[in-house]
Amino acid sequence: VPDSSTQYVTDRNLVARQRLWDHQDPPFDVVAWTLDLAGVTPSTPVVDVGCGNGHYLAGVRDRGAWVVGLDLSIGMLTAAQTSLSISPAMVAADAAALPFPDRTFGVVLAPHMLYHVPARRAAAAEFRRVLVPGGVCVAVTNGARHIASLRALVHEAVRQDSPDWVMMDWAVQAFSLENGGEALESAFDEVRCVRPDAGRVVIRDASVVADYVASVGDHYGPEVERPWPEVVEEVRRSAQRVIDTEGAFVTAGDVGAFVCR
Ligand SMILES: C[S@@+](CC[C@H](N)C(=O)[O-])C[C@H]1O[C@@H](n2cnc3c(N)ncnc32)[C@H](O)[C@@H]1O
Repeated sequence: VPDSSTQYVTDRNLVARQRLWDHQDPPFDVVAWTLDLAGVTPSTPVVDVGCGNGHYLAGVRDRGAWVVGLDLSIGMLTAAQTSLSISPAMVAADAAALPFPDRTFGVVLAPHMLYHVPARRAAAAEFRRVLVPGGVCVAVTNGARHIASLRALVHEAVRQDSPDWVMMDWAVQAFSLENGGEALESAFDEVRCVRPDAGRVVIRDASVVADYVASVGDHYGPEVERPWPEVVEEVRRSAQRVIDTEGAFVTAGDVGAFVCR
């Protein structure tokens, strides 16, 4: 799992990956889906743990709820502050040591972040501690089928030099829809996994695919023989060939969430 200190110095890598989801067809709004699952209303105090550049903060704020954004990366908090017109409260802290009193929030959001936290059980205990009785925690992550066709393009580009290498999704390594429940069950009475039909991602611009692959080079580059910039360019050419012959390169997210009470 990538070292957050290199991967998330700024929001550049995250933005490159977020662009992929702009091409979902039909569109799927993962933020709205998550906030519906959490039952966020204007009277719900919310903490967004690992808030990144603020997508979920914007969604919560638009629902009129009070929200605090928390992230380990100052660069991410700065990006969130810049992108949101009215800045919510923000805190630089570790998910495994939340700087809040017991029973502070009605909702804890942990979207696409628990696979970066080595002390996942400690984080889960913290999420539970800061929730009021009856509060809910929603932890969003990926499943094993996540962007399988995109990973297959990377495999083609890498395996001539590193035949056995597998591009194992970060979530699947550490905290996925298949293996993530256990850490949360250590802290919560009830943990329910919910998987929406997020549909396909239809891409007609090869740079969207290439930029996605470039954004994960700090993590996967050291695992393979071929220099990562070469892998990126080969993936760009392969995606372009598919777009030229079939009209689009199609992949699919495998996204879902654990709802914990
Ligand atoms: C994949 S990004 C997700 C950002 C945002 N939640 C979203 O879904 O758009 C993961 C975020 O978790 C943050 N992070 C990683 N480890 C953390 C930790 N131990 N405590 C708090 N934040 C952490 C990173 O800095 C990064 O902003």
